[in-house]
Amino acid sequence: MSAPRGQFSSNLGFLMAAAGSAVGLGNIWGFPTNVAANGGAAFVIFYLVMAFLLAYPVLMAELTLGRHARRNMVQALRGIATGPVSKGVGTIAGFSGIVVASLILSFYAIVAGWMVAHLADPFAQLFGAGHTAEWLTGDSVSRNFTFTAIFSGLTMLIIASGVEKGIERWSTLLMPTLIILLLLLIVYVLTQPGAIKGLEAYLIPDFSKLSPQLLLSAMGQAFFSLSLGVGTMLIYGSYLSKQESLPRLGALVTLIDVGIAFTAGLLILPAMYVAQEAGTQIYSASGDLIAGPGLILQVLPALFDTMGTSGLFVAMAFFALMVIASLTSSISMLEVPVAFSIENLGLQRRPATLLMGLVIFAISSVIIFNFESLFGLVVSISTEYGQPLLGVVLCIFAGWIFRKDQLLSELKEGHPHIERTLFWKIWPWYVRIVCPLLILAAFVQTII
Ligand code: TRP
Repeated sequence: MSAPRGQFSSNLGFLMAAAGSAVGLGNIWGFPTNVAANGGAAFVIFYLVMAFLLAYPVLMAELTLGRHARRNMVQALRGIATGPVSKGVGTIAGFSGIVVASLILSFYAIVAGWMVAHLADPFAQLFGAGHTAEWLTGDSVSRNFTFTAIFSGLTMLIIASGVEKGIERWSTLLMPTLIILLLLLIVYVLTQPGAIKGLEAYLIPDFSKLSPQLLLSAMGQAFFSLSLGVGTMLIYGSYLSKQESLPRLGALVTLIDVGIAFTAGLLILPAMYVAQEAGTQIYSASGDLIAGPGLILQVLPALFDTMGTSGLFVAMAFFALMVIASLTSSISMLEVPVAFSIENLGLQRRPATLLMGLVIFAISSVIIFNFESLFGLVVSISTEYGQPLLGVVLCIFAGWIFRKDQLLSELKEGHPHIERTLFWKIWPWYVRIVCPLLILAAFVQTII
């Protein structure tokens, strides 16, 4: 009988898919924004520390649990549970992961919809459709609804095609395109007046901005950026062949994610100062660099406007970059509830995708119609509470509940001499003790 479950066809396919999940708006928007708000390179340094010392070990927990179970997060956690308590906790955490992944997608699709609208804008301008262009960049409910629908539809189309023909194929196509666009844009922006000042703001640390808050932001950013806590990486791990070395692939995914975030900083920060040189306001009333939506949706478009016709093409390239980054991430979020519906509810992939896609789109719509009260709330519940708490549960399952001999034999697949590596000497106790404590300490800080 042929295997009913999808699988990545090669380790490159997995790498592109997992890196595609990791690299998203979090890297190209969230990271530079955080840098701008938190003292330049000071934030970069803490981010690197958090990514390798905290996020990578949790990523390894997800990949290992996923590949071992070859099932979604609910089944994976229940499968290694040793008694009724851990089974219960595993079930609740698995379901919570699905809910949190869906909530993250529900707001992510709105932001990604803005990117699609801004991508359409230069085309409208090129064809002289001024009214349409205004609608595309204006912040109306109708615009947001339309473009969230378009983006969600694209995400569903890819997921409906399955692991290899959908996720892997599109990630393998889109990730190299993303890197090329990013590099082209950097070369262009760095040749503009003012860019060097931006590089200085990015790369010279201002340690006076150091604070516990900065550490927390760096941790949150690393968790979001590596798509942790909600079973995204777990399910991608479950589609990975036993011939690949997990620690190596996990490290590569982390490196690519961090590398692209850092590289995106080389684009966004200089672009802000180029915009300033061209007469755009880049500091808010309080004297801080504009961060948040204003940065991507006002400062940069204002900059493109000053560039004349070539600005239209730069805008196209920039927003195409944003849409691509969003899409390879959103598919990884939708795969979480879809895989669950296939494996636990017995649905076929297409109806499962349609059902889950529509449910999540309905949540997005509720947010769009109540934006002021709901958007920030959903972001905060899912990323500030859901992700870290579920991250702790995953560490506890990988570190305490998964038997050490099982853990070892899973990691040995694709890495036969793992016992002799530094990874095996450090990671098991690290994920057992250090990770949960660090995450919890940070979490307590957030809520008080
Ligand atoms: N990591 C992606 C980004 O940086 C977003 C993302 C994809 C995500 N899947 C996730 C975030 C799961 C949290 C959980 O934009």
